[in-house]
Amino acid sequence: MKIVLLGPPGAGKGTQASILSEEMGVPRVSSGDLFRDHQGRGTELGRLAKTYMERGTLVPDEVTIRMVMEWVDAHERAFLLDGFPRTRGQAEALDEAMADKSGIDVALSIRVDREELVRRLTGRLICRGCQATYHRTSSPPSVEGRCGECGGELYQRQDDSPEAVVKRLEVYFEETEPLIGYYRQTGILREVDGEGPIDEIKAAIAAALN
Ligand code: AP5
Ligand code: MG
Ligand code: ZN
Repeated sequence: MKIVLLGPPGAGKGTQASILSEEMGVPRVSSGDLFRDHQGRGTELGRLAKTYMERGTLVPDEVTIRMVMEWVDAHERAFLLDGFPRTRGQAEALDEAMADKSGIDVALSIRVDREELVRRLTGRLICRGCQATYHRTSSPPSVEGRCGECGGELYQRQDDSPEAVVKRLEVYFEETEPLIGYYRQTGILREVDGEGPIDEIKAAIAAALN
């Protein structure tokens, strides 16, 4: 199955993608994680992406499409894309790449209220070692500041500052939300309510995929 996950920053794309990927045995990638990995390794692409990410704006299509398509080419039979596509140009590039294969099966949109998004993002903690995600109040680590999976150090993403969050939400509504209409038109859109316990959302997603 080939799935794309749509949803605003903080909707729980990463949280649900990690559960789904494990349960379905399907490889997943987050375009944001790919950029952060480049930054960690100090590549030229990482330095370029950083200038956009810290401001909460999108990295230009040309670079983003090339990076994600490399990953897609290596996983063409089944995959879960978290955070890509985010623009009309990216969606068209993905469709084009899939043209001579069977296309994307499902575009899954996760809906969450703005106030809840801000609460989630400003309280999020990420592991430096394995990228596992926590939340200061709703899913805190059992040992403060340490990842329960690998013992790694937890940090706050630079773009989870209140100013960057406001910008990211604005960019989402302007550039990415219109893709919901794009996928509705092609008939592969499924929508789920992203508020409530993580397990309930997981069940709603499973139902939407069946
Ligand atoms: P990216 O890393 O993709 O960030 P994002 O889309 O802003 O989404 P997030 O990762 O912030 O949220 P999420 O939906 O994964 O939520 P999560 O599961 O962590 O992109 C970062 C930047 O990279 C972009 O701004 C852009 O600059 C660039 N970029 C990336 N892709 C690009 C592209 N295609 N084109 C151009 N530029 C691109 O959950 C959030 C928090 O909520 C966590 O703390 C979690 O524990 C908690 N939580 C999750 N579910 C629940 C629940 N049900 N109840 C309570 N808390 C919950
Ligand atoms: Mg994410
Ligand atoms: Zn970890």
